[in-house]
Amino acid sequence: MNLHILKDAGAVARAAASLIAQKVKSAEIRTLGLATGRSPIAVYDDLSARVAAKELSFAGITSFNLDEYIGLSAQNPASFHAFMQRHFFGKVTLAAHHLPDGMAADPAHEAQSFENAIKQAGGIDLQLLGIGRNGHIGFNEPGSALDSRTRLVTLSDSTRSANAPDFPTPGDVPHSALTMGIGTILEAREQLLIATGTAKACAIRAALRGPVSADCPASALQLHALVHVFIDEDAAALL
Ligand code: F6R
Repeated sequence: MNLHILKDAGAVARAAASLIAQKVKSAEIRTLGLATGRSPIAVYDDLSARVAAKELSFAGITSFNLDEYIGLSAQNPASFHAFMQRHFFGKVTLAAHHLPDGMAADPAHEAQSFENAIKQAGGIDLQLLGIGRNGHIGFNEPGSALDSRTRLVTLSDSTRSANAPDFPTPGDVPHSALTMGIGTILEAREQLLIATGTAKACAIRAALRGPVSADCPASALQLHALVHVFIDEDAAALL
C-alpha cells in the first residue's frame, strides 16, 4: 500500500483531489468509483473548484457510487443521490453517473443491473473510499464475505448511529442499503482510501496492520495490488 500520513483533514483532501485530478487530466482513468459521507466532501469541493477554474473536466468520466439507502428516493435530501447532487454532480459535468436505486422494486435485480453497468463501462479504474468506524467500506459491514458482490445489506447499529446526523431523527435512518460488494470494490484497478480524525484510528489500524479478515472489511484492501491511503495524523495515531 502507498501510505501517506498528512498533517490534517485539509491536506488529505488536497492530496486525494490532486491524485484524482492528475489521473483524469492525463486520461489515465475513464471510470471513477465515488463515495459519500463526511470524508469526501472536501475532496469534491477541491475538484469542483478546479472545474470552475477550467483546470479540469470530468466530461469524459463515468462514475459509479458505492451505495444507496433502501427506501430513499433521489429527491430525499438524506439520500446518497441527493448528497452527490449537492456536493459534486450539481457542480461538474460527467459523461454519466450511476448509483444503485434505493427505490427499486426488486433490490436483487437492481444489484445485478448495477454490476452489469460497471462491466459494460469496462470496470472501475479508480475507486474512492472512506472507512466506517467499524472498518466497513461501502456498506459492507463486519462479517461481509470478502468476495461479496453488489447486494442488499442490513446496516449495523454503529453505522446507523454514525449516519443519524444526516436525518431528521435517528429513527429515520434506514435499516438497509444496496452496496457494491467487497469483491466488486476489489475489482477496481486502483483504490484511494481516505480517513481523518481519531474516531477512525482503530479502524485504520485494523485495516492496514491487522489480519485480512471479514471482521474488518477494509482489511481486504491488503489483497489489492494498487492502493493509495491518505490519512491525517489523528487517523494514523494507532499505527
Ligand atoms: C459512503 C460509504 C461509507 C463511508 C464511511 C465513512 O458511500 O460507503 O463506507 O465511506 O461510512 O463515512 P464518513 O466519511 O462520513 O466518516
